[in-house]
Amino acid sequence: MKRTHHCAQLTSTELGATVSLLGWVDSVRDHGGILFIDLRDRKGITQVKFDPQVNADLGAQAAHLKPESVIGVTGRVVARPEGTVNASLPTGQIEVDATELTIHNVSDTPPFPLDDIGGDKVNEDLRLTYRYLDLRRPKMRKNLVVRHRATKAIRDYFDSREFIEVETPALFKSTPEGAREYLVPSRIHPGQFYALSQSPQQFKQILMVAGVERYFQIARCFRDEDLRADRQMEFTQVDVEASFITREDVYALFEGMLKKVWLDVLGVDLPTPFPRMPYSDAMNRYGVDKPDVRFGMELVDFSELFRQSAFKVFQSTVANGGVIKAINAKGLSDLTQGEIKNLEDVAKSLGAKGLAFIKVENGEWKSPIVKFFTESEKAALTAQLGVTEGDIIFFAAAPWEKACAILGRIRLDAAALLQKRGKLTIRPDDWKFLWVIDFPLMSFDEEQNRYLATHHPFTAPVVEDTALLDTDPKSVRGQHYDVVLNGMELGGGSIRIHQPALQKKVFEDVLKIPADVVDSRFGYMLKAFTYGAPPHGGIAFGLDRMVALLCGTTSIRDVIAFPKTQKGQDLMAQSPTAVTAKQLKELHIQTVMPE
Ligand code: AMO
Ligand code: AMP
Repeated sequence: MKRTHHCAQLTSTELGATVSLLGWVDSVRDHGGILFIDLRDRKGITQVKFDPQVNADLGAQAAHLKPESVIGVTGRVVARPEGTVNASLPTGQIEVDATELTIHNVSDTPPFPLDDIGGDKVNEDLRLTYRYLDLRRPKMRKNLVVRHRATKAIRDYFDSREFIEVETPALFKSTPEGAREYLVPSRIHPGQFYALSQSPQQFKQILMVAGVERYFQIARCFRDEDLRADRQMEFTQVDVEASFITREDVYALFEGMLKKVWLDVLGVDLPTPFPRMPYSDAMNRYGVDKPDVRFGMELVDFSELFRQSAFKVFQSTVANGGVIKAINAKGLSDLTQGEIKNLEDVAKSLGAKGLAFIKVENGEWKSPIVKFFTESEKAALTAQLGVTEGDIIFFAAAPWEKACAILGRIRLDAAALLQKRGKLTIRPDDWKFLWVIDFPLMSFDEEQNRYLATHHPFTAPVVEDTALLDTDPKSVRGQHYDVVLNGMELGGGSIRIHQPALQKKVFEDVLKIPADVVDSRFGYMLKAFTYGAPPHGGIAFGLDRMVALLCGTTSIRDVIAFPKTQKGQDLMAQSPTAVTAKQLKELHIQTVMPE
């Protein structure tokens, strides 16, 4: 039997035609002897009718069919009787009166319902164990299609601008500067290892030296990170690099790409250019370098106000060079004890000593610390935070970065609590893109007592800051940019260093990597740069994250066909697994099991 139509195609136009459909039994309903089967394929559903009065044999066969069995049906398209038309289905006007049935395969009863609503309620581990069933759900099928559409839009976009897609190796060498890597033992070189590529960064820069000028790649990357909703060990980047390009060129190029993706996939015309926000503003106002600007509740600095505070915690924090920051969660004074305790725990997990707060209820400021505040301090808080009845103010007193981070997180949690109460609406399709710029090139790591590259060591300093590399590396700004959407870091990149001397200086003098280590890890790059490296720069986007936002889901697992669990397992194929002693021997590997 050959398919003549798919299951979303038949309408009154085909009335009277004889058609053949192939697909899965979505449901079987017995209406007093007459059997109705909803037949489903990747496009949709058609109702098929088996009438024992017309064909007793066929009816008997169909009666045994369980959902998810694979069948082929031939029959005549007829109008549904009045009162049985289903307006919510594109094929709801008609049904197919079956005259022939082929059973390709019978199905066991699936372990969970395969409709969107029922499937969403089951444990994700079960869905991942039976991913082939989970992917039959309309929602998951749609996610795969959105991913394909987005990828195609991206390829078309870069192709039309004369970028070429070049594949770079997954098996690379270990460069411990970045995220933790996956090591792959070499069989032919005993005791030596490859590392799975964390990103094509070094190869794409080498491609610029090679004169490619415009490169892109939809590239698989591997990082041995702790997994979260927005992180997988294996993920996909839209990776791009171009020569003779400035930061402004990169912004325009990527705004154009995102505009096309949103238009092609969602039919939404994004306004460009995207706003830009310096890193220090993002931290000061939102407490994070990837701000969700769909709602306010901005952080306000009260360090000066509380320099002489009677509340010792505030006074001593400022005296020691720290800051006092506050946010006003409007309308959230009805927080329960438990909810406040949770927020305190969150703050403490970020290193806070406490989370002072003031509730405004019945015209009164309620808090154990309010007795320390003067009338003028209260007036300043009221004015700058717009305090009114029903509000709750949270304070963080800590060193600048920590205070920002604590309130940045409390801001998000408070917004979630307000949403739960119906007091704040944050729409997932309110697309608030922005560029975060002017990151510090280096950040000082107290533990290691040395500077680390904020992004990666190939990022060029802002030209006018270059001289400060010798005297005050911390104040050097990098030519780095992140693109952020609704609180998620979608992508990041930079203009790169292309002069070998400057790159060597960053490695050796600023990052304090010993010269022999620099030579063994990056010697080939430094050498390549001595043969005419053009100025260049680029960016990489998290494709999984972008598609998740396009699909309106918060978990990238929903847009990856076969993701790993939070524990890094593939529950369907069951990996990772132990291997045989013989395999290990061949690879010159001995394992040491934990006690
Ligand atoms: P970066 O490390 O910022 O930059 O990565 C770029 C983007 O990749 C996505 N991403 C991830 N997505 C899912 N799971 C992960 N574990 C994961 N890690 C990163 C994020 C991130 O913004 N080579 C540079 C880019 C450049 O400079 O051109 C790089 O890899 O969306
Ligand atoms: P205490 O005087 O230590 O009992 O603290 C009074 C209130 O201030 C409590 O609600 C604490 O959670 C809070 N608090 C203490 N230290 C800090 C801090 N560094 N930042 C913000 N709030 C704090």
